[in-house]
Amino acid sequence: MAAPGPQPPLRMPYFDLLLLHLETGKAGQEVIERAFGRHVHWGYWPDPAAATNDATDYGKAAERLAAEVIAAGRISDGTTVLDVGCGFGGTLAILNEQFKNMTLAGINIDQRQIARARAKVTPRDGNRLSFLAGTAVQLPLADASCDTVLAVEAIFHFPDRARFFREVQRVLKPGGRLAISDFLPPHGMLPWLWPKFRSPAYGVCDLRYSLPRYRRLARDAGLRPVVERDINANTLPTHDFVKTLYPFVVQYGWWVRFETRIMGWISRQRLLRYSILAFEK
Ligand SMILES: C[S@@+](CC[C@H](N)C(=O)[O-])C[C@H]1O[C@@H](n2cnc3c(N)ncnc32)[C@H](O)[C@@H]1O
Repeated sequence: MAAPGPQPPLRMPYFDLLLLHLETGKAGQEVIERAFGRHVHWGYWPDPAAATNDATDYGKAAERLAAEVIAAGRISDGTTVLDVGCGFGGTLAILNEQFKNMTLAGINIDQRQIARARAKVTPRDGNRLSFLAGTAVQLPLADASCDTVLAVEAIFHFPDRARFFREVQRVLKPGGRLAISDFLPPHGMLPWLWPKFRSPAYGVCDLRYSLPRYRRLARDAGLRPVVERDINANTLPTHDFVKTLYPFVVQYGWWVRFETRIMGWISRQRLLRYSILAFEK
């Protein structure tokens, strides 16, 4: 797999903050390692009332969310999986632990995350594993070379979803799957939605893709929707857990508090519905 050329720098303050804690021993390092050391996404609680708001519980919930997206990707031994926006490599780490004779690749726009993923995940059971710096809209894979593409809670950062879907269609084998998680607004809200925006804590986000819009995007790219799961209720304890981290936030503190509060309210009102989607070629 050839790595694409150098990528333009992307401002994602929440990753600056996480890396500052994880790699320089700032206050809260151990808590942040347990919660976000492997996955940087929301958690999944089969029973949200049972959430205990501590880092160990959160880390387990994050593992479960990745497992739910993996299940939507219908992955089996001996296949090729690309994880786009792979973060610290947690989703590929699960695949590496659960499957054998896999060809696993992670791609991320941020070289620092790639470096951490490489240091954290060691291939086993005949698996081949690579982490590459690159962008979602120019995938470093040959046509029809991949069984599954995953993008766990990353697609809203990508510069162009239609280009990403076309790239996925190109690299998937016939019958291959794309599985993602994303925040979906109700379709009726689209005319009133803010444009793509730059959040001070979370960077550039585009949250304007409703379920009907995803269906159209897939159809235009030559993919067929096969999984549509609204798991919003199962992710809501995330907001209460993130509040427990406020004392550790040494940078962007005001913005993290403000945006976490807004996002919690929006999610509880179901104005954005955390969902798992999968599409087949
Ligand atoms: C919320 S994090 C999720 C990380 C990882 N998927 C996980 O579940 O832990 C979003 C990820 O998208 C990555 N990302 C943002 N824009 C990207 C792009 N254009 N191409 C590839 N990755 C991108 C970020 O660097 C970040 O790792």
